[in-house]
Amino acid sequence: MQAAVYAQFPVYRPRRLRQSPALRRLVAETRLSAQALVLPLFVRSGRKLRRAVSAMPGVAQLSPDEAVRDATRAFSAGVQAVLLFGIPDRKDTRASGAYAPQGIVQQTVRLLKKELPNLIVITDVCLCEYMSHGHCGLVRQRGHQMRVLNDPTLKLLAQTALSHAEAGADIVAPSDMMDGRVAAIRQRLDREGFTHTPIMSYAAKFASAFYGPFRQAAESAPRFGDRRSYQMDPANAREALREVALDLAEGADIVMVKPALAYLDIVYRVKTEFGYPTAAYAVSAEYSMIKAAAAQGWIDERAILLESLLSMRRAGADIVITYAAVELAQWLKEGLG
Ligand code: PBG
Repeated sequence: MQAAVYAQFPVYRPRRLRQSPALRRLVAETRLSAQALVLPLFVRSGRKLRRAVSAMPGVAQLSPDEAVRDATRAFSAGVQAVLLFGIPDRKDTRASGAYAPQGIVQQTVRLLKKELPNLIVITDVCLCEYMSHGHCGLVRQRGHQMRVLNDPTLKLLAQTALSHAEAGADIVAPSDMMDGRVAAIRQRLDREGFTHTPIMSYAAKFASAFYGPFRQAAESAPRFGDRRSYQMDPANAREALREVALDLAEGADIVMVKPALAYLDIVYRVKTEFGYPTAAYAVSAEYSMIKAAAAQGWIDERAILLESLLSMRRAGADIVITYAAVELAQWLKEGLG
C-alpha cells in the first residue's frame, strides 16, 4: 500500500523543505506578527490600583493610570490595540454606568488616547457589567419568569457606543448579541457625525462555559438564568454564518468569532464565506487552562500559546484577541514562533 502510493509520486518529497529552520520559514503559509494582536484590559476607578483576578494569572483589574502603564508596555512590545472592559462603582437595572459620559471606560479612553495617541483603543459595548442582574440587556421579571428585552435594549447599546466614540474610541465592539444592535449603533454613530468609527461586532458569540473566568474578572456573572436566549448554541455552525451575514448587512466592519480554539471551524467558515476582516477571541478559560497546566509544569506554556495563535491565524483569523498578547508579542520579537 505504502509503496504503491509512493510510486505515484516519485519526485515530490515534502521533507526537502523541512530541513532547516530557515527553509521552513521560507515556505511557511502562516506567519505570526504582533500587529494582529489585541490585549483586553479591565478597568475600574481608583489610582495605582491593580486587583489581581485569581482565575486568570497575570490579569488584573486596573485603575486608569495603571491601564496606561500596561498599554504602554504592550505598545512597546508591538501590540497595537487594546480592548477595554469597565467595572463600574455602582450597578443598576438600566446599566447607567455603561453610557455615563464620565463612566470608567469613557475616562480611560480619554486618558489612553492622550498618553498613547497611536494605540488603537477598542471598547467592548455591553451592558452586563453595569446591570445589577448581570444580563446583557434590559430584563423584565415576572415571578420566576424573566425575559431579556431585545428592542428596548438597542437604544442603550447605541448610547453606550456613542459615548465611547465621543470619548475617542477608535473602534466600538458590541458583545451583547441582541438582534439589530449593529444597525442601531451604526445609525446612531452616523447621525452624530461618527461615520468613520468602525464597528467590530461579536457576530458569532456562543453561549460558552469558556467565559467562566472572565465573569470573575468583569464581575458580570448573571444573578439568575443564563445567556442562552441571546448567545448562540454551540451546536450550530450554519446559524453562525447567518449571524455574521446579518451583522455585515447591518454595517459591521470586522466580525468576530468567540471563543476561538474550540470554534476554529467557525473562524474558517466565516473567513472563507465572507472574506471580511475576521477576529478570533481567545477567551478567558482558554487562557486560564493554559496558565494552570503550565503552573503545574505539565505543558510548555510558550510553545502552547504560540501554536494556539498559529492555529487561529491558519484558520483565517486576521485579528486575535488574547490575554497573552504581550508575552506573545515579546516572543515574536525574539524571533520565536
Ligand atoms: C460581555 C462579554 C463576555 C466576554 C466578552 N464580553 C462574557 C459573557 O458574555 O458572559 C467573555 C470574554 C472572555 O471570556 O474572555 N458580554
